[in-house]
Amino acid sequence: MSKCRKLITTTALMGVIGVLPAFADTLGLGRLALPEEIAAWDVAVMPDGRGLPEGAGNVFDGEDLWIDYCAVCHGDFAEGAGVWPPIVGGRGTLTADRPLKTVESYWPYLSTVWDYVNRSMPFGAAQTLETDEVYAITAYILYSAGLVDDDYELTHENFTENRLPNEGGFYFDDRAEVEFPIFTQEPCMSDCGAPVSISARATTLNVTPDFPIIRNLYTEDLIGNGAADAAAEEVIEDASAQPEAEAGEAETQMASLDPELVAAGEAAWRQCRTCHQIGDGARNGTGPQLNDIVGKMAAQVDGFRYSPAFVDAGESGVIWDEATLDAFLENPAGMIPRNRMSFRGVRSADERAALIAYMKSYTN
Ligand code: HEC
Ligand code: HEC
Repeated sequence: MSKCRKLITTTALMGVIGVLPAFADTLGLGRLALPEEIAAWDVAVMPDGRGLPEGAGNVFDGEDLWIDYCAVCHGDFAEGAGVWPPIVGGRGTLTADRPLKTVESYWPYLSTVWDYVNRSMPFGAAQTLETDEVYAITAYILYSAGLVDDDYELTHENFTENRLPNEGGFYFDDRAEVEFPIFTQEPCMSDCGAPVSISARATTLNVTPDFPIIRNLYTEDLIGNGAADAAAEEVIEDASAQPEAEAGEAETQMASLDPELVAAGEAAWRQCRTCHQIGDGARNGTGPQLNDIVGKMAAQVDGFRYSPAFVDAGESGVIWDEATLDAFLENPAGMIPRNRMSFRGVRSADERAALIAYMKSYTN
């Protein structure tokens, strides 16, 4: 917009709202806009029909005009062409991930369509359309949106009878009345809700995410939850009761092992034997030797080349205790994805407990 035009509009606006540009005289700048200038500038059309010039246009004429002036960019049926925006369609998509916002799906008032087309289209040749042509094109847009029949004629008189589908989607900003009182209330700082009671366990409800129990080495906190809440609780108790399994404590642990369970574990060990050795002189094979594995951090057996997945698990703080061993043996690939232990897991919880007891019996 040129400077000159801007000055006139500014002055015009002041004229409209009744403020005298007192500085005009003193600064010797500008002059009052003439009523005709204001009228020419003020092409705004309001939702209630204010500003609409007299005129009329029907769908048929609108279609011809559309083909001549608009279709090259907006498509023959206003559906949009190439990179240019569609004018109709998209109803019901406003709450979708990628809403299609058009006159049909989004715009609240037909007056905006009239005003927009009259003011700024065709792109690059704004304000070249006659008043009746704008009516006809607007009628064609209504028709393309399925809002009127093909014999419809739009005029300044029936204009406000037309309603766009999303009018109800717009409302006045009522935050001052609705939200302000809520957010300015005295905030509650104690006993604000009803007392909380635990009614079910996450595992029972089956909402516990299925990733490994990982313990932060520094804080002993559990990061992420494991296959079994109950087992996780055990870990927490273990952590507070005996943070480090020292030699003396390990003996007590040995003493507390159930010989029957250890024997059952020895029997179940045949599934592990092809890959793991345990006991006197145990050496690494396909899998690492597993002496002293209970209480050890993952991927720490000397001389064994672990998979990157296992090394990561070790670095993120997985420690082999009852809970983590249980989760791992139940579903090795589930707990540490892409590890190299090609073993589908031990389904029975009793058998896993027995295997863990057996490994414990080789832990000093
Ligand atoms: C040269 C390409 C071109 C032509 C021709 C053209 N338009 Fe447009 N139209 C556009 C572009 C680009 C926009 C988007 C402008 C913007 O967002 O600033 C647009 C936007 C519009 C919109 C608003 C769309 C929206 O949802 O924001 C309407 C309505 C419209 N045009 C109607 C028309 C009509 C009616 C004609 C014919 C008289 C026409 N256009 C001709 C390119 C064109
Ligand atoms: C087919 C061979 C194979 C079988 C069978 C197998 N494992 Fe493994 N196991 C491995 C390999 C290989 C690794 C190391 C995985 C890696 O590096 O990704 C491993 C790792 C382990 C670890 C972690 C060791 C560490 O240092 O972090 C434990 C514990 C373990 N296995 C226990 C068992 C038990 C118990 C059984 C039997 C129920 C068993 N495995 C069966 C090959 C096997």
